[in-house]
Amino acid sequence: MKKYISPLAAVILVALTSGGIVLAKDSCLECHTTSGDKPSALFKHDIHFQRGVTCAGCHGGNASADDMDQAMDRKAGFTGVPKGDDISKTCAGCHSSSEKMKSFGSSLPTNQWELLQTSVHAKSSLKGKEQVVQCITCHNAHGIVQVKNPSSPVYPLNVVKTCTRCHADVAMMRSYNPSLPVDQLEKYRTSVHGTRNAKGDTRTAECANCHGSHDIRTAKDIKSKVYPTNLPGTCSACHSNVAYMKPYKIPTDQYEKYAKSVHGIALLQKHDQGAPACNSCHGNHGAMPPGVESISKVCGTCHALNAELFSSSPHKKAFDDRKLPECETCHSNHEIIAATDKLLGVSPEAVCSRCHTERQNIKGYQAAKSMRSLIDSLDAGEQQDIKLVDEAEQKGMEISEAKFKLRDVRQARLQSRTMVHAFNEGKFKEVVDNGLKTSIIVAQESQSAIHEYYFRRFGLVISTLIITILAVSLYLFVRRLERNKIQQ
Ligand code: HEC
Ligand code: HEC
Ligand code: HEC
Ligand code: HEC
Ligand code: HEC
Ligand code: HEC
Ligand code: HEC
Ligand code: HEC
Ligand code: HEC
Ligand code: HEC
Ligand code: HEC
Repeated sequence: MKKYISPLAAVILVALTSGGIVLAKDSCLECHTTSGDKPSALFKHDIHFQRGVTCAGCHGGNASADDMDQAMDRKAGFTGVPKGDDISKTCAGCHSSSEKMKSFGSSLPTNQWELLQTSVHAKSSLKGKEQVVQCITCHNAHGIVQVKNPSSPVYPLNVVKTCTRCHADVAMMRSYNPSLPVDQLEKYRTSVHGTRNAKGDTRTAECANCHGSHDIRTAKDIKSKVYPTNLPGTCSACHSNVAYMKPYKIPTDQYEKYAKSVHGIALLQKHDQGAPACNSCHGNHGAMPPGVESISKVCGTCHALNAELFSSSPHKKAFDDRKLPECETCHSNHEIIAATDKLLGVSPEAVCSRCHTERQNIKGYQAAKSMRSLIDSLDAGEQQDIKLVDEAEQKGMEISEAKFKLRDVRQARLQSRTMVHAFNEGKFKEVVDNGLKTSIIVAQESQSAIHEYYFRRFGLVISTLIITILAVSLYLFVRRLERNKIQQ
């Protein structure tokens, strides 16, 4: 019988035997090799073999006994072939024990089993009582190699296949959860990440980069790497890493800009889940930059009215002809800030003046100029109204009706900001005019309340004066009467 020990393993074995844990001899392997079975053939490339773990490391038994019965004696700890959850527990026997791992000279993390128990994959399999996924589902049982080895099933170029063996298996996934999509692979293949991965690029995102490996959770779990408030951090682990992204020559400022945007502040600071995370605009598995055609569609999923108005505006064709992205041209993509009236008009900070000047696209220039002055007058009207309503209220006058109408003025101002996107002066004027009319009514009502206040006060002053005069003359009259009495 030929003894098979690679020179490297021999060195390690000698080094480790001194610790007394590993036996230099592996009679299990020796005998099984002669029978030419698969486990022993695979084991020769196994990281465990290289680190001095014998067949008995997982199966138990006596690896120094040449006799078959002695070696595979239950009394010697032989456990046979592990089944169900005993499989992962076998692996955890070492991989969850930092002491055991250290005895093999390893400083790998020892949390895989613990994490797996908290993951979505710890749910029970339909076949039996065991969990859906065991360690060997992703790592194999024999022929296990380091995860950085290109032949590992979890190596970036192989992990997609490892995961989609289940996740693209419609029948299997339906039996677990009929509503769970099974199109991840199909979509992933169309993405920049997926096409590059298929061509052998190990740096783009694969399933485990976005979902984790041992700690995979459902997307609805607040601890999931793809939960909306966690997702931007997951993407930026690569996209904000300048050194990592260097070969690609694309910007690495998306997160930085996004975090400062209205959207980033709303989601990350105010936890407003209505605000978009990276995937709201880029998709989950089809992560691509939205093309020129699709950008307004992306924004329009939330800002429906703006998108609708834009589509029927003169800019639609003008922008399409020039291959300009729709919303992004004026609002940018990652650094979208709160929109203000400053964007509108012909001043240097207005977006309109980038394309409309007195010499270029003059019609738009004129429209921008008068739209700005319209919204300015509505703004001024509203400010004036607020002051008057406040004043009347402080004077204790009843003006609930004017106050109620003030809300309509505010509404018209908000509507006009959206109506900008029709890029049609006439339509814009209509909305603003409605607001202005109401604004004038509010001003009139609150002013007349203020007048009434003064009128009442003025009346009070006069009557007090009359009463005082009356009182004084009455006093003088009485005094005179009294004096006359004394003189008599
Ligand atoms: C002298 C030869 C010999 C030695 C030594 C030996 N085995 Fe085996 N082993 C066999 C043969 C032959 C079979 C298949 C026959 C059977 O199923 O009983 C087998 C079967 C097995 C099985 C499958 C059992 C099952 O229930 O399907 C495992 C696991 C196993 N051996 C592990 C070990 C381990 C671990 C050691 C060392 C501690 C070891 N063997 C030592 C010859 C050997
Ligand atoms: C890292 C742990 C581990 C080591 C080391 C290991 N095995 Fe296994 N072995 C397993 C697990 C887990 C299974 C069950 C696989 C399954 O259910 O698909 C298994 C199954 C088997 C089986 C039965 C099923 C089959 O695949 O034929 C045999 C035989 C076997 N091992 C022999 C060996 C021999 C021989 C060695 C040493 C050369 C060895 N094993 C080393 C974990 C290990
Ligand atoms: C759903 C697939 C999956 C399952 C199940 C799984 N792993 Fe992993 N494992 C991975 C991936 C992917 C990596 C590499 C990426 C990484 O390091 O997170 C990895 C890495 C590892 C590593 C390298 C060190 C480390 O933690 O990164 C070890 C050791 C390991 N796994 C052991 C286990 C053990 C033990 C189990 C069972 C308790 C297990 N794995 C279950 C996918 C899986
Ligand atoms: C007897 C202890 C022991 C058992 C049992 C065991 N392992 Fe390991 N495993 C090790 C040691 C030691 C290493 C090498 C660690 C190192 O290189 O730092 C290792 C390495 C690995 C690696 C490679 C990690 C890397 O560096 O990328 C994976 C994956 C792995 N084991 C998975 C498993 C799986 C799956 C099982 C169960 C089927 C299992 N192990 C059972 C001790 C064990
Ligand atoms: C053995 C089959 C199998 C393998 C392999 C597998 N999964 Fe799963 N996965 C499942 C099952 C079953 C579920 C639970 C479905 C359910 O009941 O909702 C699940 C759930 C998930 C979920 C949660 C879905 C949700 O939002 O509810 C994610 C994410 C996931 N898996 C990702 C992965 C990744 C990434 C890999 C590879 C590293 C992987 N899976 C490997 C079977 C598998
Ligand atoms: C670029 C990051 C990224 C990559 C790569 C990725 N996912 Fe996802 N995945 C997500 C996001 C984001 C979600 C959805 C989160 C949500 O619904 O809010 C998701 C959702 C899922 C779900 C839940 C069902 C669904 O489709 O909504 C499963 C299952 C899943 N992914 C599996 C996979 C598998 C398998 C792969 C590898 C082929 C993969 N993912 C690759 C980011 C990614
Ligand atoms: C593991 C690292 C990694 C993670 C995580 C990652 N990406 Fe990527 N991504 C890349 C690399 C590398 C490229 C390729 C760049 C190229 O080809 O221009 C890329 C390309 C892209 C592109 C196409 C860029 C272009 O114009 O070519 C988009 C969009 C993108 N990623 C978005 C995302 C989003 C959104 C997430 C999170 C859901 C994410 N990425 C997570 C590494 C990653
Ligand atoms: C509000 C929608 C939106 C959000 C949110 C968003 N993006 Fe983008 N992203 C875009 C648009 C639009 C483009 C430009 C596409 C074009 O010009 O064709 C883009 C381009 C990109 C590109 C290509 C390179 C570049 O900078 O032009 C990458 C990479 C990218 N985004 C990643 C991310 C990441 C990572 C996040 C989260 C931190 C994110 N995006 C959030 C809309 C968005
Ligand atoms: C997932 C839904 C969603 C998507 C997609 C989205 N947004 Fe938003 N957007 C919001 C929410 C919610 C707010 C309000 C945030 C806040 O102020 O708290 C907002 C705010 C804004 C604002 C500021 C509004 C103001 O009152 O000043 C602008 C401008 C804007 N988004 C433009 C865009 C553009 C351009 C796109 C596409 C590139 C886009 N949005 C995509 C949800 C979305
Ligand atoms: C030609 C430039 C331009 C384009 C293109 C444009 N906007 Fe605007 N947008 C503006 C201006 C100017 C304002 C500010 C109006 C104000 O506050 O007076 C604004 C305001 C907004 C607001 C805040 C007001 C509101 O409606 O709540 C949102 C949201 C918005 N835009 C979304 C979009 C979306 C979505 C698209 C694409 C369909 C888009 N914008 C295209 C110029 C533009
Ligand atoms: C990226 C360049 C660009 C920006 C920014 C831009 N426009 Fe335009 N606009 C155009 C082009 C090009 C046309 C079509 C001109 C033509 O065909 O004569 C147009 C046409 C118009 C028209 C229709 C004029 C007509 O012929 O009836 C109006 C109104 C208009 N723009 C208003 C605005 C306003 C208001 C803003 C700022 C909120 C703005 N535009 C910002 C490029 C732009």
